[in-house]
Amino acid sequence: MPRQTLTTLRRLKEAGEKICMLTAYDASFARVVDDAGVECILIGDSLGNVIQGHDSTLPVTLDHAVYHTECVVRGAPQSFIVADLPFGSYQVSPEQAYASAARLMAAGAHMVKLEGGMPMLKTVRFLSQRGIPVCGHLGLTPQSVHALGGFRVQGQQPDARALMLEEAKRLEQAGADMIVFEMIPASLAAEITAAADAITIGIGAGPDCHGQVLVLYDMLDVFPGRKARFVRNFMAEGGSIRDAIDRYVRDVKAGKFPAPEHSFR
Ligand code: KIV
Repeated sequence: MPRQTLTTLRRLKEAGEKICMLTAYDASFARVVDDAGVECILIGDSLGNVIQGHDSTLPVTLDHAVYHTECVVRGAPQSFIVADLPFGSYQVSPEQAYASAARLMAAGAHMVKLEGGMPMLKTVRFLSQRGIPVCGHLGLTPQSVHALGGFRVQGQQPDARALMLEEAKRLEQAGADMIVFEMIPASLAAEITAAADAITIGIGAGPDCHGQVLVLYDMLDVFPGRKARFVRNFMAEGGSIRDAIDRYVRDVKAGKFPAPEHSFR
């Protein structure tokens, strides 16, 4: 199969076919995810939690992200590769963001992801005008977990909802081709998606985004501890890692995942 590109992903969106994304951090898992037909692989800074054992994503450095991106790219010949810009590697200035993003792109990423709305518009424009595809990330943004007061649903109050609608639109106008929405009401994700040119990807954002993402180690239940409401343990239903990922792809494509019990109001 030829590699997924922004063009093939946009075609899926236009055709109404759900887009599957999973995280991966190494070549072996990336190979299984890629073989299973997951269109996008995210080298998430969740690697700080699931690979490094930290209780947040904040200690992840650009060197870590570059290393894991190189590993994943070697294992994934078909997927579209999105790499997270880690905390502290892009917030200072658009120039700092460009220098960091350039390292991830040179490592083999096809797009970089950054967290935040209004304060990031200039940076998103700067990167996209210079040929670096950008994925935004709104809602629960884990790099701001301390400012947000913990891992909680975002966009539930009318003013927060209105702000997120505006931020999504402005990110898109600044050049973001994809936006991840984490832990927001399903109705808000549906409203944003209905008006979006960018590809919307949900995690705890209901069934109506153009695509879905989960942290691989959560959906395979290898990461210990209590799971967020939006996580389904696909390993409990399948006999192997490959079977669990196949089931994820099947259920996302069929609109069966996420179900109401994985969503927020
Ligand atoms: O770091 C990550 O894995 C992410 C996903 C949760 C979207 O940003």
